[in-house]
Amino acid sequence: MEKIKLGIVGFGFMGHCDADMMATFDDIDLVAVADINPDQLKDAPEGVETYSNLDEMLAHANINTVMVSTPNPSHPEMVMKAAAAKKHVICEKPAAMSVALFDQMVEACHKNGVLFTVHQQRRWDKDYRIMKEVYDKKLVGDMYVIKSELYGFNGNMHDWHIYPEMGGGMLYDWGVHLIDQMLDMVHSDIVSLYADVQNVINEKVDDYFNIIMKFRNGITAEIELGTYYLTPKRAWFIGGNKGSALIDGFNGEGKIVRTAHLLENVPGKITMTAAGPTRSFGPAAPGLLLEEPLPEVHVDHRNYFEHFLKAFNKEEEIVVKPEQVRRVLCVMDAVRESAKTGKAIAFEE
Ligand SMILES: NC(=O)c1ccc[n+]([C@@H]2O[C@H](COP(=O)([O-])OP(=O)(O)OC[C@H]3O[C@@H](n4cnc5c(N)ncnc54)[C@H](O)[C@@H]3O)[C@@H](O)[C@H]2O)c1
Repeated sequence: MEKIKLGIVGFGFMGHCDADMMATFDDIDLVAVADINPDQLKDAPEGVETYSNLDEMLAHANINTVMVSTPNPSHPEMVMKAAAAKKHVICEKPAAMSVALFDQMVEACHKNGVLFTVHQQRRWDKDYRIMKEVYDKKLVGDMYVIKSELYGFNGNMHDWHIYPEMGGGMLYDWGVHLIDQMLDMVHSDIVSLYADVQNVINEKVDDYFNIIMKFRNGITAEIELGTYYLTPKRAWFIGGNKGSALIDGFNGEGKIVRTAHLLENVPGKITMTAAGPTRSFGPAAPGLLLEEPLPEVHVDHRNYFEHFLKAFNKEEEIVVKPEQVRRVLCVMDAVRESAKTGKAIAFEE
């Protein structure tokens, strides 16, 4: 297997995380890191060359692949420079802040015959993969709704994430991943999309969004994120005609719930609740709801680089494909448009 000789540009939070990850691979050598801030280079791993910018790293380091981990607006320039130097490229998400720029990046990589992919590694999150298994195997029958929710409590963005011109805000941050997961799960065209995007306690960038997508296969998908929701959680729900699947937490804890039998006596039994009598929404009779475990999956973010290593060696196709990344960016444009107009958007695939 040919080795990846990697250079990372942007040795901040993510650059350091990726350097740690690379240290776990025999066939990926981290050769060099580049950062405009010399302080960031002080703890570069022993033996790794350091450069003050990408141009120098491209000119001097013996690398065949560049990982772009700089803040969002610089991604296009970095990717196009790396491609022109005939290096394969892994770019951090969001790949670009416009579809037009992204197209230029893809074109540059294509023209120079190098691989191009984006670090949308949350396709290997455990919670997501469990729900994808539920979806792929139709474990709750024909599905009608999928919900993906992420709530936090402090509302604050950190560092450059508070500046719109830097690609700040939660849509560019977690939104990319959550949309990518949903599009990777539901293999169907989007017919229409409605979104609400708000700045709840941040002045300039979004810290809440709710996106509802109607797919041609009949499924409605909802993605809601709030950083000032004060009931922190990561949750999933899939509703089907043979059961419900739910997850509570990144660890993928949850269950599949089914009914022992469908209600036969119509009209149903009247039960009394604090909100008055109801035939449909009182507590379930004992034994009616049956719980089953969710499927087991074994994944982690290392799998992303395992796949890239195989693609690099022409043993597999790139998993996070440019056309999929582009579709996510198109959805984000539609999200902003819908939020601005307050209207649903007919989505053109
Ligand atoms: N895939 C993920 O899960 C994930 C998670 C976090 C961040 N990210 C992405 O990673 C990227 C970096 O985010 P971060 O949180 O590490 O930011 P960060 O601010 O911690 O690090 C960015 C680094 O880039 C350096 N830099 C800025 N401009 C540069 C330039 N022109 N040339 C060289 N270095 C430059 C900065 O000095 C800094 O050290 C962003 O695009 C972000 O969206 C992805």
